Amino acid sequence: MNIGQLTTPALVVQHALLEANLTTMAAALPGTRMRPHVKAHKCSALAARQAQLGHTGFTCATIAEMEGLSRSGLGDDLLLANEVVDAHRLGALVRDGARVTMAVDSEQIIEAAVAAHVPEVLIDVNVGLPRCGCRPEDAGRLADRARRQGLTVRGVMGYEGHIVGLEDRSRRMELLEVSMGLLQKAHEDVGGDIMSAGSTGTYDINRWATEIQAGSYALMDTAYGKLGLPFAQALTVLATVISVSSEWAVADCGLKSLGMDHGNPTVAEATVLFCSDEHLIFSPQRPVQVGDRISVIPAHVDPTVAYHEFLHVTDGEEVLDHWAVDMRGW
Ligand SMILES: Cc1ncc(COP(=O)(O)O)c(C=O)c1O
Repeated sequence: MNIGQLTTPALVVQHALLEANLTTMAAALPGTRMRPHVKAHKCSALAARQAQLGHTGFTCATIAEMEGLSRSGLGDDLLLANEVVDAHRLGALVRDGARVTMAVDSEQIIEAAVAAHVPEVLIDVNVGLPRCGCRPEDAGRLADRARRQGLTVRGVMGYEGHIVGLEDRSRRMELLEVSMGLLQKAHEDVGGDIMSAGSTGTYDINRWATEIQAGSYALMDTAYGKLGLPFAQALTVLATVISVSSEWAVADCGLKSLGMDHGNPTVAEATVLFCSDEHLIFSPQRPVQVGDRISVIPAHVDPTVAYHEFLHVTDGEEVLDHWAVDMRGW
């Protein structure tokens, strides 16, 4: 199949760039030093390639991602790095033979793990991102509580999401040290082997974590593109020009096919004016015609992928494969 035959909007992944990203990361953080986060790609075929390269443990944000990996035979060591109040579907994965670890940051979530017979947990610690995670000083108490309830506490996790996108590397390093200081202190109180943290933006500077949870590096986006990381933009959204006026042009790729929380997408040789539900309005620097195809680079990869059913894997104009984005949903 040729790329021109794809129905747009379509996610296109350049195979050579994806491979380069995956092998660069596998060389930097070999084996289980890297626990890829699948939330950015939600694709079991891509996860299988990460496992082939040595990363046999995975990080997930949703139960659907945990189920997708387990179903694909990738359930050696799955971490749900997120809180869930009803964990019974995770209990079912344990019974099916998957190794499941849950993040817990309160007594209620510990109860959820116990009720679902999920045997292992990490204490999720807030290291500065105003999201989930207990106060560092509460981590030891929660670990004691979990152990008294019969759970195995494997250690701590703490996602430094508030700093991962900082373009100034030295500022990123400075704030990372503060965050990891908090996590380290909590780890001393909690015990266990694991200190799980990190992201694409900190994978090479987080020297405290025992494992890194990076996800976006595989496909990349323009937000991470600003950081000067050794990862290429492997994913684009292929779109078709559907209308041209004297002042602007319109492509068929709007809010329903692009994650926009990090801002407008980018189109080469054009200025993106705005996006609406099904439309991208842009001012091209060279003439375009109805029917032309354009490549749109998303500002945020995770929510973009979640809108689509397939990653179309390409080599130049040739479509090599269609990988299902099979771990969508909840
Ligand atoms: C818990 C957790 N860990 C790690 C990451 C890092 O992912 P990325 O490398 O895509 O920034 C995220 C991203 O949101 C996350 O929520």
